[in-house]
Amino acid sequence: MRKSNLMMGVALAASMALAGAGAVLAGSHGGGKPADAATQMMEKGMQQGMQMMKEMAGGDAGKMAAEMMKKAGMGQMAKGPADTAGKAATGTVEDGRVFVEMPEPQRSNFLAIMRGFMEQLDDIINAAAEGNFKEVARIAGQDMGPAHELIGVLREAKVPEEKIAEVVQRIRQRMEEVVQAGGGKMMMGRIVQEVLGEVPPAFRKWKQEHMKTGGFGRFMPPEMHVMGLQMHLNAAKLADVATAIGEKPTAEDYGKVLSAIGEITTQCRGCHASWKVMR
Ligand code: HEC
Repeated sequence: MRKSNLMMGVALAASMALAGAGAVLAGSHGGGKPADAATQMMEKGMQQGMQMMKEMAGGDAGKMAAEMMKKAGMGQMAKGPADTAGKAATGTVEDGRVFVEMPEPQRSNFLAIMRGFMEQLDDIINAAAEGNFKEVARIAGQDMGPAHELIGVLREAKVPEEKIAEVVQRIRQRMEEVVQAGGGKMMMGRIVQEVLGEVPPAFRKWKQEHMKTGGFGRFMPPEMHVMGLQMHLNAAKLADVATAIGEKPTAEDYGKVLSAIGEITTQCRGCHASWKVMR
């Protein structure tokens, strides 16, 4: 009896978490702000599940919870990340977020990139406040958008700007496909090869280094990976919006920029409400 209560609690928590993550994702497409409701819903489900587990109070509750999570649907997440199936370790739920095991130095690097996003967001908001939409487009498109890490590498390899733009465009398309499919490999190497006709040695070298220190996507459950990709796509959308603004921005233009910034921050928020990498 007690055991089945525990199972129900965890099952509930897991399904609520999934529902919450799903709602956040769905919201990001619709442009609305359901993250609030989704987060609340998720937290409530988790709290209920955790409360039941606490009441059951077995020493092995945490471990059992992880097992139950798998059975209850988190297994989908535990099954594997988008890039290399089978490596993502998830399942432990504390304070309503799911812990994702990320090895070092990837984890430290992931967090450093996060702190970078915070800075870029600040720069974007300040540039927008000054009416400098060119700068908004530059930061959003090149520092936060799809292939943001790749642009500098290709520039250093003296790849012509229009070719770089084509690579970025193709990576953006691929990102959209992966998001639509709910996960998958980005295959950036193949895209670079197809557009440039060859893989520049600088790219190959970067890729090797990147796989040692970065390439976080492969350690993420697909749902988390997709939220990250959606964030990059929303940054690209902000760049489009900012680029289209003429010499004399109207109040409506400012509104559009603000709402596109909001679509980025909704992704930050949704992901932070769902996952953690630190104990
Ligand atoms: C794919 C999911 C995801 C997205 C999207 C995301 N984050 Fe994060 N972020 C995380 C996780 C996970 C952590 C670690 C939280 C933990 O373990 O407690 C984190 C941590 C951080 C930190 C703290 C870093 C540190 O050193 O402690 C900052 C700052 C941050 N994120 C900013 C942002 C901003 C700004 C955005 C949006 C532009 C964003 N993040 C988008 C998942 C995400």
